[in-house]
Amino acid sequence: KITKRERLFKINDLTSRFYHKILVDSKQGKLAREYLQKRGINLETINKFKIGYAIDSWDSLLKFMMKKDIKPQELLDLGLISPRKSGNGYYDRFRGRLIFPIWDSRGGVVAFGARILGQGEPKYLNSPDTPLFNKSYHLYGINLAKNNIRDKDMALIVEGYMDVIACYQHGVKNAVASLGTAFTKYQANLLMRYSYNLGICYDADAAGSKASLRGLDVLSDLGCNVSVINLPKGLDPDEYLQKEGKDGLELLIKDGQSLIEYKLTHSMENNEIIAIQGKLKVIEDLAEDLLKMKSFVLRQGAIDLISKKLGLPSETIISELKKINQEVK
Ligand code: CTP
Ligand code: MN
Ligand code: MN
Ligand code: MN
Ligand code: MN
Repeated sequence: KITKRERLFKINDLTSRFYHKILVDSKQGKLAREYLQKRGINLETINKFKIGYAIDSWDSLLKFMMKKDIKPQELLDLGLISPRKSGNGYYDRFRGRLIFPIWDSRGGVVAFGARILGQGEPKYLNSPDTPLFNKSYHLYGINLAKNNIRDKDMALIVEGYMDVIACYQHGVKNAVASLGTAFTKYQANLLMRYSYNLGICYDADAAGSKASLRGLDVLSDLGCNVSVINLPKGLDPDEYLQKEGKDGLELLIKDGQSLIEYKLTHSMENNEIIAIQGKLKVIEDLAEDLLKMKSFVLRQGAIDLISKKLGLPSETIISELKKINQEVK
């Protein structure tokens, strides 16, 4: 006899195989196959990530599961169907979408992400939180990436499903995605089982840089070595790989910025550093992080860098920091 939880895992697994088969092996999956081909995803990758397709029907999954004697309640618990608004019955959550199964680190299917083919809103629809899934705890791609993260002693954190998949297909097999939410300490703890060196490679847009900053704080507070990998404006890792390939991305990874460097660049973009008030603002922006640094050597290095970039003597910056430290206390 199996537990309720094991049964839910079984149903998710069955669901992922149902959608995968439709994508790779049916007439109804043709448009979706063409879409993936246009995006450069090959069959080997489709199989590796068990990408699937949910046809545009109200009840294709529901019908399939009924035939297998699986009750609506369990599908409801997994967020795979919803009750009809009027009358009785249920309808499938995912319709007319590519399906990305999301695994836990042991390889159990915990949830699904689903992308519309082409334009439309919402672009991605994900499983809700369920007994198996909490989006703050899981990372897309962790099951396939974990051994590579350990071997390379580094994890690459990207924003999206397609970024993880493109990385993998290009041979960058240590990427995981935080599923469109802010990076959490639970996700950091999961990664830290495999490595303390984490590279954040988010989309080079406003949303991505905001998310990078938040992620940086979470990670550095836990004592990770974080670096920020900067893509050219407007691109995400998938798009960058299409243009520059694995070698291009690996060069950027090598050029990653430390937390302080990244925040310095960011703050200097937001302040008029020609004016002395702008310089002061930059120091104030970075003060907390500088004061938090435990190593005097690393802190001095950071101060020297800021000194060079702002054109201020290190001693002035140190005095300012002391003053700020006093005001905090
Ligand atoms: N996301 C989401 N829901 C949305 C939009 C985004 O959950 N409506 C999440 C998805 O995990 C997505 C990630 O945020 O992969 C990054 O979003 P975005 O950059 O907009 O999408 P891409 O991953 O670049 O997707 P694609 O390349 O297919 O456009
Ligand atoms: Mn297959
Ligand atoms: Mn984006
Ligand atoms: Mn993209
Ligand atoms: Mn993107």
